[in-house]
Amino acid sequence: MIYFNPKMIHIKYVLCIFAVCIVNVLCGKEYDVYLNTTDPATCQVYEFRHSHSKPIGILTTSSGKLVDIRETVALNSDAFSNQHHIDLMTHIDAERIPERLVHAKGGGAFGYFEVTHDVSKYTKAEVFNGVGKKTKVFVRTSSLLQNLGGNDAARDVRGFSVKFYTKEGILDLLCLSTPAFFYRDPIDFTNFFHTLKRNPKTNLFDFSTRWDFLAKKPETLHGMLLLLSDYGIPNGYRKMDAFAVHTFEINNKHGDKYFVKFNLRTEQGVEVLTSDEAAKVGQDLDYFNRDLYNAIENKNYPSWKLEMDVMTLESIKHIDYNPFEVTRLWKKGTYITVPIGRLVLNKNPDNFFATVELSAFNPGNLVPGIPGPMDNLFKVRRSSYRDTHTHRLGVNHNKIKINQPLYWKEYNRDGTPPVKENMMDAPNYYPNSFNGPVPYVDPARPKERFTVLESNAVDLEPAAYFYNHYLCDDGQRQRLVNNIIQALLPVSPEMRRRVLRLLILTDPQLGMKVETGLEFALETPLPPPPKAIKILRNNYKDSNEICTIVKNDHNYN
Ligand code: HEM
Repeated sequence: MIYFNPKMIHIKYVLCIFAVCIVNVLCGKEYDVYLNTTDPATCQVYEFRHSHSKPIGILTTSSGKLVDIRETVALNSDAFSNQHHIDLMTHIDAERIPERLVHAKGGGAFGYFEVTHDVSKYTKAEVFNGVGKKTKVFVRTSSLLQNLGGNDAARDVRGFSVKFYTKEGILDLLCLSTPAFFYRDPIDFTNFFHTLKRNPKTNLFDFSTRWDFLAKKPETLHGMLLLLSDYGIPNGYRKMDAFAVHTFEINNKHGDKYFVKFNLRTEQGVEVLTSDEAAKVGQDLDYFNRDLYNAIENKNYPSWKLEMDVMTLESIKHIDYNPFEVTRLWKKGTYITVPIGRLVLNKNPDNFFATVELSAFNPGNLVPGIPGPMDNLFKVRRSSYRDTHTHRLGVNHNKIKINQPLYWKEYNRDGTPPVKENMMDAPNYYPNSFNGPVPYVDPARPKERFTVLESNAVDLEPAAYFYNHYLCDDGQRQRLVNNIIQALLPVSPEMRRRVLRLLILTDPQLGMKVETGLEFALETPLPPPPKAIKILRNNYKDSNEICTIVKNDHNYN
């Protein structure tokens, strides 16, 4: 029989804590206690030591020469005879590559895509066919306007790019956190991003240039309202939906055509931050990336449902708007939604630079069964991404491990490394009579493609639809109004008038609310700037006590 003894409970409790500490120490987990945290991102280096009980090898130079311990110090010696020192110094001098033009700051993770529904009626793409089939993916998450080192929680459009390593080649599905894009004419890319990025003299973000462009190109208003609404700051990458924006043509094995928009719906639930909440969490500049990294390390794997909004050729003929227009949303009731599968992220990269930084997404990387969008913006994107990757990573960016397809045979040769086997001794021209690679024949490939005619007319309906129907309640609408007011405060009265005119044309109620709010905000005096603390400089005495006789005991070879 066991008797209840309160003293024993106390002793048992102490023994239990002691045992846990011993186990932690023996397992090398003493750092949890020491750092007072279980945050996997903070513990990463301790984890490395825990899984490697001794140094992982003898140190070498990059050319493989073993490094003597005396070469790890460059003081009081001939630093330029120390090859290890030169190897380190000259390498770090060239350590940076250009940051991406847009979407520079990001994170990424590996995972898989699993088909959950039979969509063979719509597309023959191997990756989306066969319920239960899993395909490896790499996802890069990013924010559009932030430079490397920027603030994750800034108001911005987020990128969510999925690289599917399919048996039919790489499929890159580039998505944004907003379902509509800013403009439809590809020639606007350079000018628009110049207005969104930094002012050429001040090197600061500039609201005047943004509103100026908007007033001259009113089609950008819809995208701007999306950005200034609650959707402008999701609560991390895990809690946002992502949209491939364009209308894609897809084909089944009989060559039948369908027109679809691909959407990823978060299974974590959509969560957004208000501007005030974002200012708080933004004290950690890496809030989004830390959240994603820690969730995956803690095996709390984030997931999304991939679905497509579908229209047939017939339904397209009967709608009263252009479904290929990237600045607008499809109207409710004109399409059906078809689930395809589930995307799960379950592994952080072992090395950030080799994966996230060297990843090169290209919307033109499509597979049979997904010929892709037909609008001009997309056609230009097919070449723009290749071009920028060649500038940033070199012409052989598809041979970098993270971008490699499962299978390739080609007639491209040479160029900036990596070149891999460079197709060895195979013929380097096509057609040839010497058994170089030959193309396959796709009997079901549709015979004709459509040309999409795009209108240049100003259409404010998508912006009005967004304000009145996409936003769910008056709280969302008021926060949008407040954010517009804040963004209009630093610009000239004339610029404000032009924007107000546009807002009133879009929706009189929206325009009026912004006008009243602006008047009130302009009459309220600004609070004084916070005072800085002054610190007196310390005056160190010059020292004459430096010994000039140097004993060089290094023995270099
Ligand atoms: C004329 C139109 C566009 C042009 C010229 C363009 C160009 C670019 C360029 C140059 C990059 C940087 C790529 C890199 O260095 O890795 C980029 C990134 C990106 N773009 Fe676009 N873009 C356009 C429109 C769009 C649209 C409509 C979407 C909507 C899906 C989009 C989604 C993205 C995403 C998600 C990234 C980040 C890729 C990554 O994660 O590395 N872009 N774009």
